[in-house]
Amino acid sequence: KAEELSTRSSVQARSFTHRCGALALSIVAPAYNERENIRPLTDAIARAMGEVTWELIVVDDDSPDGTAGEVATLAGEGAPIRCIRRVGRRGLASAVVEGMLAAESELVAVIDADLQHDETRLPVMLELLETTDVDLVIGSRHVEGGGVGEWDRHRQRMSRLATWIAHRLAGVRVSDPMSGFFAVRRSVVEATIYDLSQQGYKILLDILTASPTPLKVVEVGYVFRERHAGTSKLDVVVLLEYAFLLIDKLTRGLIPPRFVLFCAIGGLGLACHLAVLDLAVGEGVPFLRAQGIATLCAMAFNYMLNNAITYRSARLRGWRFVIGYLVFSAVCSLGALANISVANLTLREVGSWPLAGIAGALMSSVFNFGVATHFVWRP
Ligand code: GDD
Ligand code: MN
Repeated sequence: KAEELSTRSSVQARSFTHRCGALALSIVAPAYNERENIRPLTDAIARAMGEVTWELIVVDDDSPDGTAGEVATLAGEGAPIRCIRRVGRRGLASAVVEGMLAAESELVAVIDADLQHDETRLPVMLELLETTDVDLVIGSRHVEGGGVGEWDRHRQRMSRLATWIAHRLAGVRVSDPMSGFFAVRRSVVEATIYDLSQQGYKILLDILTASPTPLKVVEVGYVFRERHAGTSKLDVVVLLEYAFLLIDKLTRGLIPPRFVLFCAIGGLGLACHLAVLDLAVGEGVPFLRAQGIATLCAMAFNYMLNNAITYRSARLRGWRFVIGYLVFSAVCSLGALANISVANLTLREVGSWPLAGIAGALMSSVFNFGVATHFVWRP
């Protein structure tokens, strides 16, 4: 039935909405530095929705380019648009969730702010939710009527790989689990709100895998367009975040992905420590002094990487960056004490030095992670 509907006109759905007088569709657009795109997006949605009532909720992470101001201007002109501003935080998935929670309508669509998604599919997506019992309508580039447009080979390959992993590891069956374009019942998201990982970019995959029972899903084809203005925010860290979303799903939230990253960076920090130590001793610096220098270098190295990657959504800048570094160093020193005491204890009780070493390292990792998460990069 859903398939049959996706090709029919929206007249029936429209009259239903008008009878109720309620807002038919809330549209959530996550936006970071998209000022130039807000007006074209609003105009395009208005054209696409025609008579259907809608609101546009822009979730802006305090973009320096003045995205929020542009939303205010449009609202002043009478457009059904408002802005949720988040300060000191970044993240596409969490922005989308917050926008959904603030939606007026029970039926919510998510669309990128850069006009890459095809807003003319919105009425069809809405009608499917209004007139069938599907929970989720996905705008897909890999079904009939869909396509990736002008993508280069590299990007296509990356997207295929990510999709393959989602199929294999997360057991998701839909053709385009990477899509950022979909419509869903708000109650579906609210029902699993505590199980959402909200890491990184892949909010759709997050919703699909959080639900305890499989969701009823239909896919609607669309062609991925070129970005209207500005630049993509997809970078290497976003790919890392995808890995962490998967870790979170596979360990059922038992091991925080951030902890895995924190430990991986700790491992790199150790390599950095040894390299500096080697260099300094080679230059004739006495061992203890060399060890001190290496420790300082490794700590600075760990701090900067964690600030850039692990805690990027709460990244410290300016004088907070400096204070954060001092607190982080203090935390790591305490962590080192914890490491030595636990290692000592284990050595005495168990008598194996490799085990003692591992126990000590584990102790300090957990300690450093917990304290850094709460005192250095406050959530
Ligand atoms: N609030 C907020 N915070 N919005 C963000 C953030 C953030 O940290 N990062 C990105 N956005 C917004 C952008 O402003 C844009 O409106 C939308 O999220 C998508 O970001 P892009 O930077 O344009 O991503 P993309 O075009 O490379 O990726 C698209 O395609 C992927 C599939 O290949 C997105 O649709 C992804 O969701 C999709 O997975
Ligand atoms: Mn984009």
